[in-house]
Amino acid sequence: MSHAEDHEGTRRDFLYYATAGAGAVTAGAAVWPLVNQMNPSADVQALSSIRVDVSGLSEGSQVTVKWLGKPVFIRRRTPPEIEQARAVSLDDLPDKIARNNNIAGEVPATDENRALDESGEWLVQMGVCTHLGCVPLNDAGDYVGPEGVGGWFCPCHGSHYDSAGRIRKGPAPENLPVPVAEFVDETTIQLG
Ligand code: FES
Repeated sequence: MSHAEDHEGTRRDFLYYATAGAGAVTAGAAVWPLVNQMNPSADVQALSSIRVDVSGLSEGSQVTVKWLGKPVFIRRRTPPEIEQARAVSLDDLPDKIARNNNIAGEVPATDENRALDESGEWLVQMGVCTHLGCVPLNDAGDYVGPEGVGGWFCPCHGSHYDSAGRIRKGPAPENLPVPVAEFVDETTIQLG
């Protein structure tokens, strides 16, 4: 499911070429991208980014991937999940800040400000409860959120998150954080 292995493969190739290239640099366009990655920031970024193939994810399902040692939930939401999340009033939210690392500054916790894409079909968030760090549950119909559609539930101390991953009830103080993420092609999401 993940392209992380491919990514590591690319990195290994790079290291190989970097070593070989010191003695025998071949000309041509193919060499440039490899050389171009030799600056430290690109190198660091390569380690902190992963790509996830989401082509196999059907509506109403999610995948959990590990990124920087933490679980990340990538969910392809159903229309009711999106509609309900968008119908919620900000007044009903304990945490009114979007917590979306793709958006600079503190913006309101609307569903639009948390979803990955404009349609709201894709939601990416850290799978770490903002109370004490447990991994909330959701799939297999084991939790129904405040609006009667799927959400997330942290059984450790009973925190309820809605279908946008916003805290609605229980001790967790904040919405589930949305990590830096983007679609790099139609079926691949890059984290970091
Ligand atoms: S860690 Fe999730 S409710 Fe306490």
